[in-house]
Amino acid sequence: MGEFRQGLRRRPLINSIVALLLLSLSLRWSSTCFGGKKHKDLPTDEKAKIVSLIGREVLDSRGNPTVEAELTTGYGTVRAIVPSGASTGIYEALELRDGDARFRGAGVTKAVSNINKVIAPKLKGKDVRFQKELDELMVHKLDGSQNEWGYPKEKLGANAILAVSMAVCRAGADAFDLQLFEYIGELKETKFEVARIEVQRARRRTYKMPVPMMNVINGGRHAGNKLPMQEFMIAPTGAKSFKEALQLGAEVYQSLKTVVREKYGQDAVAVGDEGGFAPNIQENDEALQDLMDAIKDAGATGKVKLAMDIAASEFYNKQDKTYNLGFKVDNPDPSLIKSKEEMVAFYKDVTSRFPVVSIEDPFDQDDWEAYSSMVEEMGKSVQVVGDDLLVTNPKRILYAEEHKAANALLLKINQIGSITEAITAYQDSVTAGWGVMVSHRSGETEDTFIADLAVGLSTGQIKTGAPCRSERVAKYNQLLRIEEYLGRRASYAGEKFRDS
Ligand code: PGA
Ligand code: ZN
Repeated sequence: MGEFRQGLRRRPLINSIVALLLLSLSLRWSSTCFGGKKHKDLPTDEKAKIVSLIGREVLDSRGNPTVEAELTTGYGTVRAIVPSGASTGIYEALELRDGDARFRGAGVTKAVSNINKVIAPKLKGKDVRFQKELDELMVHKLDGSQNEWGYPKEKLGANAILAVSMAVCRAGADAFDLQLFEYIGELKETKFEVARIEVQRARRRTYKMPVPMMNVINGGRHAGNKLPMQEFMIAPTGAKSFKEALQLGAEVYQSLKTVVREKYGQDAVAVGDEGGFAPNIQENDEALQDLMDAIKDAGATGKVKLAMDIAASEFYNKQDKTYNLGFKVDNPDPSLIKSKEEMVAFYKDVTSRFPVVSIEDPFDQDDWEAYSSMVEEMGKSVQVVGDDLLVTNPKRILYAEEHKAANALLLKINQIGSITEAITAYQDSVTAGWGVMVSHRSGETEDTFIADLAVGLSTGQIKTGAPCRSERVAKYNQLLRIEEYLGRRASYAGEKFRDS
């Protein structure tokens, strides 16, 4: 050290030049290797620290209890509410319910208390800009449960952890003075390296607006009719903007209301959990034909395509490995009980006669082989989406990639239970060249987080129900606001909705 100093004194100019060169080289090296900045380079921000965090039991759109988190930093107070599914996959992270007399067992006071008594004391004073670190603290340390597929959140409940994770994300956006979707875009861009977040980049870049996949005819476990398939969706891919897509979707929905009323009577226009109609029909073809009629009546032929969610785990018979399309009728006709090969043939037939561009959960959640053969035979022309199959779980996504068992992810934040893992699931799917459809749950709330998530990640597609029922429309309205705010920086995904 001393010698070096002496040397410096003796040949000051040469040494300073060498030092400068070395410094610039090392800066360049670190910026290519690590993106230039590390957490320690981030200036501390006292205002970004959590002052208070509370959990609360509120109601969802079905009148069932769910978890809300309320988080305060020096930048203000934010809230987040978690949704809840009905046709839940068996590999989803745990939704903690009380199981006592209140709300027929559906109370969430245990999850709320886990926020108040376990999570809040550990998170208070922590900086909300560190999304990944805070998620990992909750998931790995405070919860710590693990199984072969990752972190099931069995101790604290995915509903408790996710509510906090969403609130942290909102507060993080406020700390950077960014819109939620802009901040999510930066989390994606920087892979959670907070010091690399660039506010100006987020405000300048272009974002993709998603095609709304609107579930307008309901069957399966979501409806009391005899239709075995769960969701029949309209996809306004031919619109020029999200705003126009929403208008087209709403117009087709109103035309469908007329079709349904005329064909099945006034009773049939009552709506299900996701705002779609549930006429008492049994035939898949009849539902698809009703949609085609409504599209034609609305003058939207060619502009609006179709999508389906089969939710086939609900009617799979594990013993004899068959799919029972008559599971909602007594003594179904034997022709309704199908092998996996017959199901693939059935999907081929349907897509050859109707403009169906996306099929979700066509097989049981463990029938990997059937998925692989469908992707191989039809995957180019039709999107094969994994919902119960993948449960937004990075390990199941990896397994599906290896077996070419899907070509799109259904991204549901409460299936996995933290924002960091949800964004990671998105990134892994994109790396595999898949599409990504952000999704609501059948039990929803006024929280519009997923609208921002779809734009921030620029997934190109979202499904959040019919253009009816405020908990669904709230997301579409948020997308309208975002598109307006972005102006020319917004581009509508349209026909290219599969390019995430
Ligand atoms: P869920 O249904 O929210 O009841 O699981 C939605 C879906 O299956 O996509
Ligand atoms: Zn589904």
